[in-house]
Amino acid sequence: MTNLNDPKKASESAVEMRNLVMPNHTNPQNSIFGGVVMSWIDLAAAMVAERHSNRPVVTVHVDDISFKAPIKIGDHVLIKASLNFVGNSSMLVGVKVYAENPFTGITRHTTTAYLAFVALDDIGRPIKVRGVIPETEDEKRRFTEGAIRIEEMKKKNAKNKIKV
Ligand SMILES: CC(C)(COP(=O)(O)OP(=O)(O)OC[C@H]1O[C@@H](n2cnc3c(N)ncnc32)[C@H](O)[C@@H]1OP(=O)(O)O)[C@@H](O)C(=O)NCCC(=O)NCCS
Repeated sequence: MTNLNDPKKASESAVEMRNLVMPNHTNPQNSIFGGVVMSWIDLAAAMVAERHSNRPVVTVHVDDISFKAPIKIGDHVLIKASLNFVGNSSMLVGVKVYAENPFTGITRHTTTAYLAFVALDDIGRPIKVRGVIPETEDEKRRFTEGAIRIEEMKKKNAKNKIKV
């Protein structure tokens, strides 16, 4: 077991997930339901946050998601997710979704999303998470942009705070 305080490289927690679009995923136009793609995005991103923190995590914020192109029945859906930024207990994960036609090999980028997660201790309270080490130019850019993006999420959260 690694020490939970040791920083980890962004590449060590990255996740790639593939799914085949089946009839139960689609609408009457034979393209995928947005909600199915969103659940796959959430799953892939949650696995990144768990792999990074080695803790249970919950989703606290999902950025605006837009679908740029339809994904059709029979397409392969490739979801790439990686850790962009770490706060104290919060983690920002970036996700890119691609649709691949397995017969032509043509791949289209259909969606980008950003999700914030919080790592939890054994009684469900936020717990401090190890730092992240961005290595490549892309990872460094995502880290810099991620710091700004998660602050924006927190501002939105403060504005929309629900009293329970
Ligand atoms: C996760 C949870 C326990 C955190 O409790 P909390 O009272 O908000 O705790 P805090 O205010 O200390 O926030 C913890 C961290 O999350 C961050 N955070 C909270 N809400 C956020 C949001 N909407 N967007 C981005 N960051 C957020 C805080 O800024 C803080 O970050 P830091 O530790 O890195 O500084 C609580 O919000 C919760 O249970 N939410 C429901 C999660 C859930 O069930 N998700 C599944 C889908 S419904």
